[in-house]
Amino acid sequence: HRAWPGLIEAYRDRLPVADDWKVVTLLEGGTPLISAPYLSEVTGCEVYLKVEGLNPTGSFKDRGMTMAVTTAVNNGKRAVLCASTGNTSASAAAYATRAGITSAVLIPEGKIAMGKLAQAVMHGAKVIQVQGNFDDCLELARKVTADYPEIELVNSVNPARIEGQKTASFEIVDVLGRAPDVHALPVGNAGNITAYWKGYREYHADGVIDALPRMLGVQAAGAAPLVLGEPVANPETIATAIRIGAPASWNQAVAAKDESGGMFRAATDDKLLEAYRLLAGKVGVFVEPASAASVAGLLASREEGWIEPGSLVVCTVTGNGLKDPDTALRDLPQVEAIGVDPVAVADALGVR
Ligand code: F0G
Repeated sequence: HRAWPGLIEAYRDRLPVADDWKVVTLLEGGTPLISAPYLSEVTGCEVYLKVEGLNPTGSFKDRGMTMAVTTAVNNGKRAVLCASTGNTSASAAAYATRAGITSAVLIPEGKIAMGKLAQAVMHGAKVIQVQGNFDDCLELARKVTADYPEIELVNSVNPARIEGQKTASFEIVDVLGRAPDVHALPVGNAGNITAYWKGYREYHADGVIDALPRMLGVQAAGAAPLVLGEPVANPETIATAIRIGAPASWNQAVAAKDESGGMFRAATDDKLLEAYRLLAGKVGVFVEPASAASVAGLLASREEGWIEPGSLVVCTVTGNGLKDPDTALRDLPQVEAIGVDPVAVADALGVR
């Protein structure tokens, strides 16, 4: 039994990393593919969750960030910048710290989950709130890095990010021995669906798998440009991670959908929260609201018949539930504290 070496070492022959590069890693990747018996039962499918919330900073972004920051420092960069709905900022801050370089993050004012902000602050990022949404932040980050080439842009428009994130597909196939029939995941800026599809295609081209999955990209109904076929000027959703109106990897996401015979669909905030509660309460996996989009998409697509019974389905759950305690605690029943008294406990449990 060997310890997991991080995804760059694990998949080095499939990544653009030079032999003499110093690798910046927090041993990301190698996340569990967990069966979801409750979901399998209600859908009649065989359902697995790729639990990306178990990465070092609690989201899939670490896969891309180990590659982006490794590439940046080996090219002599001394600072990284990103726009973020939260998770990218947490990850960029952690990997920059690990590399001993500076990080700055542009975040939409008041619209990122508390845990993510805490991470960026603790990892020492320069946190800059912007009076605008994610799309405004990304435009700003692109302009700044165009003017100051010594600062590396580490959003998913950076090709190294996609390279790192494609390894999730490799890991899934390495466990299942095949690709799933359907792969469902949340879509915001559309880097991750681009990366997964690239990973599956590479394994397919090399004969590791003989069939490709259909990609199911799920957006929040209030921020569903790919479903609508046009950008959304004022995206709104409780799932702040995917509150994005103009995905940067638009064309690549459409290609992933079309080439795979897949689909984009939207889930209302109510459906996202339903799937969020179900994952925590019935499956035992606590994810952040945006992550539940994959499962909301699975349930709706199964109901519609787009996914057939007996299908092998993988849902990526992209971020840890601990990132967004505010949304979780809305469900906390408002009851008074009891006295230090076993009888009072028995009363509260209704067993007396
Ligand atoms: N799920 C979570 C938890 C995310 O944080 C994101 C994106 C996505 C899904 C969507 O992935 O953008 O590749 O389509 N978060 C970015 C951020 C935008 O800034 O943290 P995508």
